[in-house]
Amino acid sequence: MRRSRFLLLLFSLISCVSMEAREKIDSSAEMEIKKYPSSMHKNYALFQEKCSQCHSLSAAMKSDDVLPSYWQKTVAKMQKKSGSHISAEEAQQIYDFLVYDSSQRRKQDFDDQLSSLPPDKQKKEKDALDQVKSKY
Ligand code: HEC
Repeated sequence: MRRSRFLLLLFSLISCVSMEAREKIDSSAEMEIKKYPSSMHKNYALFQEKCSQCHSLSAAMKSDDVLPSYWQKTVAKMQKKSGSHISAEEAQQIYDFLVYDSSQRRKQDFDDQLSSLPPDKQKKEKDALDQVKSKY
């Protein structure tokens, strides 16, 4: 609990300090996200609504980890936090957005992280991405 509070404070501080830089990055991210399939836009809206309740969206938009298994784990962890009010269906839609977004806007990181994995794990990550992509 203490650690969570500390991290939360840290997130808030970082987002205040980097407000100007963040806004620029955000608007370029927005531009890219606008080009996603239109059925992905409602998931983005849901992500914005649900994932900004406790910390800045950049916790996710600029996350070091970008692969599907990370999003699976992280969205499940956030969903379990008390007061998050995220249903199973909403968690799935947010996961879909984060996986898709990482594979587009963060393609370089995505590919780098993918290539650092052994073949069986690479396959799992690719299958998870394909599964998301096939829906939109
Ligand atoms: C109820 C409050 C709450 C909500 C809602 C919430 N988070 Fe978090 N988030 C936290 C806290 C607290 C931390 C600090 C680390 C911890 O306690 O797990 C955190 C940390 C993170 C991190 C940093 C990595 C990590 O695992 O610590 C990411 C990424 C993240 N959140 C993404 C999300 C996403 C995506 C959503 C929406 C599905 C979301 N958060 C919704 C409270 C929340």
